[in-house]
Amino acid sequence: MTKNKIYIETYGCQMNLADTEVVLGIMKNKGFELAENAEDSNVILLNTCSVRDNAEQRIYGRLGNLKKIKQKKPYTIIGILGCMAERLKRELIEDKKIVDLVVGPDEYRRLPEFIDDAFSGIKGIGVKLSRTETYDDILPYREEGLSAWLSVMRGCDKFCTFCVVPFTRGRERSRSLNSIVDEIKILSQKGFKEITLLGQNVNSYRDDNNDFADLLAASASVDNSIRIRFTTSHPQDLSDKLLFTIAGHSNICNYIHLPLQSGSNRILELMNRTYTVEHYLALIEKARQIIPGVSFSTDIISGFPTETYEDHVMTLDIMQKVKYDGAYMFKYSPREGTKAYRMEDDVPEEVKAKRLNEIIDLQQQISFEVNQKLIGSIEPVLVEGASKKSNQFLAGKTDTNKVVVFEKTNNIKPGDYVKTKIFRVTSATLFGELIEILPGKNKINLTA
Ligand code: SAH
Ligand code: SF4
Ligand code: F3S
Repeated sequence: MTKNKIYIETYGCQMNLADTEVVLGIMKNKGFELAENAEDSNVILLNTCSVRDNAEQRIYGRLGNLKKIKQKKPYTIIGILGCMAERLKRELIEDKKIVDLVVGPDEYRRLPEFIDDAFSGIKGIGVKLSRTETYDDILPYREEGLSAWLSVMRGCDKFCTFCVVPFTRGRERSRSLNSIVDEIKILSQKGFKEITLLGQNVNSYRDDNNDFADLLAASASVDNSIRIRFTTSHPQDLSDKLLFTIAGHSNICNYIHLPLQSGSNRILELMNRTYTVEHYLALIEKARQIIPGVSFSTDIISGFPTETYEDHVMTLDIMQKVKYDGAYMFKYSPREGTKAYRMEDDVPEEVKAKRLNEIIDLQQQISFEVNQKLIGSIEPVLVEGASKKSNQFLAGKTDTNKVVVFEKTNNIKPGDYVKTKIFRVTSATLFGELIEILPGKNKINLTA
């Protein structure tokens, strides 16, 4: 009998990417093979996102394409995983005839069972949320590579009024520190060089007496040649201890993603973000003192209900004050079930779009300005491979998550750390000249 072949497409945030690897781990254990593309598989799963309406519209569009595959090969199983599965539940199976199974983020252990049922023509729904599931004991299936995502906690208890995540991912819960450290040891043996610890709000991490700073320190101590990153920190409870931990470990990246959402205290309150602009700016200031050279990125929403032009200008003002290295910027999208959904979505679409464009333009200017200051500086880079535009050049990232492009030389390979001197920048890329290879940080023999 030929083996079943599974293909998963992942949408949404890094947590979904990490979950896809957990699902692949579960399915590989059950003897499934992985397919390269949808056409070559007999189980097609979409791991979906609900955070904004356009994320869901993309999935509906994709389901439209998959219909053709199902018409050609009627025995193909099509499943929806992730946040949209959790949000829409039975509705998805009832509305979309081609969907055979709908499984939410806390029920992936049951996927093999649902797939078996689907092969016998029984449609399945598994959307219970759990207070304890962390998939602690499941080794995610990862392609070989340099960078790995690692979920350290699941769910979110913050209930920002615009956000669907607490409803699609359930309550906050943390994985055990030991299991995370064990997984990092495995990643180290496999040659991974960069690990990003993931959670919707990593500052809430807790395992007995260990908080997130303890977890970061323990993670960084496993292998000095692995860079540790993390996301996302909520501005409300980012502790001094965490800042000192970042400062105290050379392999914890000096980079903090700290979503602002809005620069207006009135809007922040309506969003239930639980901090003020003053608190936020003081935190940035403190982080800059404790961690010299730290860089920041952020998330911003334009056009939240009742947002006035003055509120919008306050957001632009904070962006100018902080000078973020980068930002993810969105138009407000009402999500059913959230508190903000009950407020009137009263900022017209064209106003939201105009404000968003102003935010994007400003950020581009700021990124360029921030990068220009780096001309002449020496930046350590983890080499990832050929640059996007030419294989005469290599590309990698700085500690602060910026792309550096530099001329290729034969003795450098992906996974090496090098020092570059920056001579030209754009808002998105730094161009550097190779200064030296940093052997101390490498386990691989560089002269080989
Ligand atoms: N846990 C993270 C964010 C997860 S969602 C945090 O607290 O920062 C990623 C980003 O999507 C959010 O920071 C927010 O900027 C944006 N977002 C979430 N819900 C949204 C909505 N309904 N409309 C527009 N943007 C939204
Ligand atoms: Fe959503 Fe707020 Fe939780 Fe982030 S902290 S996932 S924005 S509810
Ligand atoms: Fe989207 Fe769910 Fe992540 S809604 S952003 S995939 S937690």
